[in-house]
Amino acid sequence: MSEMSDTNKRAPELSDRIIEMHAAAMREMSEPKDGVHPTPVAYIIACLFFTMWGGWYIGSYAGNWTADGLAETAAGMGVPVATAAPQDPMELGAEIYNACLQCHQADGKGVPGSFPPLTESEYVKGDPKRLTAILLNGLQGEIKVGGVTYNSQMPAWKDSYNDEEIAAVATYIRTKFGSNAGKVDKGLVEGVRKEFGAKGPWFEGSLLESFPKP
Ligand code: HEC
Repeated sequence: MSEMSDTNKRAPELSDRIIEMHAAAMREMSEPKDGVHPTPVAYIIACLFFTMWGGWYIGSYAGNWTADGLAETAAGMGVPVATAAPQDPMELGAEIYNACLQCHQADGKGVPGSFPPLTESEYVKGDPKRLTAILLNGLQGEIKVGGVTYNSQMPAWKDSYNDEEIAAVATYIRTKFGSNAGKVDKGLVEGVRKEFGAKGPWFEGSLLESFPKP
């Protein structure tokens, strides 16, 4: 160490030359060369992004790694899915009737004074087009069912259920509460939806106008 500083002291022009030589060498070194470029930061970020996106994608769509994880008809999904074979309308109707239960009750007898019965009702047993029209658009105002007058509101179901589902619940209540009044099919619902679907809720008067008593 002491030897070297002695040399530097003795020959400053030598150390200058050394630096000069190295500076030239270092300039040469910094010349860009094929194959030794550092990985661009943007590329690393892109790799991280796609790795994370891939993880998210697999997590979302791998179906829990089970064979039937993505099967639309898998049991327990809770959503009735239209399958190739049409569902039994009584089964589908019973499922949809869950939406009516709170007002019309499980036995279809309704709640005296508030919700009219579906049993002993001309609207259920009678013209299937009129029944379908009520289910699609709802009903309000004074209405007489089984000799009793009700004055409340029945919600519209046209946005909640498709033609097959409306047909199924109509078939269900006609069979269970309407003394086997007969099946309502999907085509009839389609027709009624086309003809009256855009109307607002029905009233006893407008029903009578569009569906003169059978
Ligand atoms: C929020 C309560 C409520 C729900 C839910 C409800 N309804 Fe009604 N429903 C009524 C009321 C109230 C009336 C009478 C409307 C009036 O007073 O103008 C009625 C009337 C009816 C009528 C005509 C009158 C009669 O008793 O026959 C039918 C048919 C009917 N509902 C079927 C259904 C079906 C089928 C469902 C399920 C898809 C359903 N309702 C869901 C309250 C409800």
